[in-house]
Amino acid sequence: MTTALPAQRPAVSDREETARRLLASSARKSYDPMIEVDWEAPVPADKFGLTPEWSTLYGTKLWDEMTLEQKVELTKHEAASVSSVGLWFEILLMQMLLRDVYGRDKHSRHVQFALTEVADECRHSVMFARAGERFGMPSYGPHPVIHKLGRIWGNFFRGANAYASVMAAEEILDMMQRDFMKDERVQPITRTVSKIHVLEEARHIRFAREEVGRRLQDASRARLAVERVSTAAVVYFVMKSMIRKDVYANAGLDTERAIAEAKNNQHYKDTVRKSGAKLMHFLTESGLVGGPSKILYKKVNLL
Ligand SMILES: [Fe+2]
Ligand SMILES: [Fe+2]
Repeated sequence: MTTALPAQRPAVSDREETARRLLASSARKSYDPMIEVDWEAPVPADKFGLTPEWSTLYGTKLWDEMTLEQKVELTKHEAASVSSVGLWFEILLMQMLLRDVYGRDKHSRHVQFALTEVADECRHSVMFARAGERFGMPSYGPHPVIHKLGRIWGNFFRGANAYASVMAAEEILDMMQRDFMKDERVQPITRTVSKIHVLEEARHIRFAREEVGRRLQDASRARLAVERVSTAAVVYFVMKSMIRKDVYANAGLDTERAIAEAKNNQHYKDTVRKSGAKLMHFLTESGLVGGPSKILYKKVNLL
């Protein structure tokens, strides 16, 4: 009598295993912001648009002179600027993901998770747009020149650099939104939007991190040097775009003074450096920080 051997299952690659777990997590916990966020709820007059310590003017002399109404107004404009940059980047990222899966096996879990991520980003983009609209804010987005560059650069956005840039942009938003979602001084809409984003982005960050590792395996020194600079350049533009300078005039402040004080705001620089430590640690571990890229990270206070 022979004993039947357990059926041999084909080996599952790391990439497939990760995608399998991420898909299961998406099935368990995904949100429809059109239903989850109470868009019709009144907008309280005394709640900040974002955590005040994240305002570019917090800690300056100007901030101390501002009334509560001015602080609330400024932080609403800053929140709208942050989420409009998030929306801009999500549109670039969706294009990149769709191009990346175009020629791959659609039955793979990897492709199926990438498509799920595109679906998440579609909902996020509508959510960010709706939040800005509800607060009666202008549609900020990056500076028109950066916006144009994004359109060109989007065509070349692929490989390790694309995933590293995506992860970096997601981590940058994440570090702020983790504070916004917990802060009772912040507008309820910002808090719910941040909570949904943080929860769903955790999967995207995981997906991108692992792709960066895989795609940089055995990378030559020359390739690593290119990936370093291109990732740092994306991080630089995302960080520089985060708060549009028009927020100060739109919030009724003296623009020249606000820009000058924000530029020298040590509190803001320290907050970015402290909150960005996790991202910089990962980029360093992946070999993506070094050489000229360091200059760009220093310019945006991440180093
Ligand atoms: Fe997103
Ligand atoms: Fe994402």
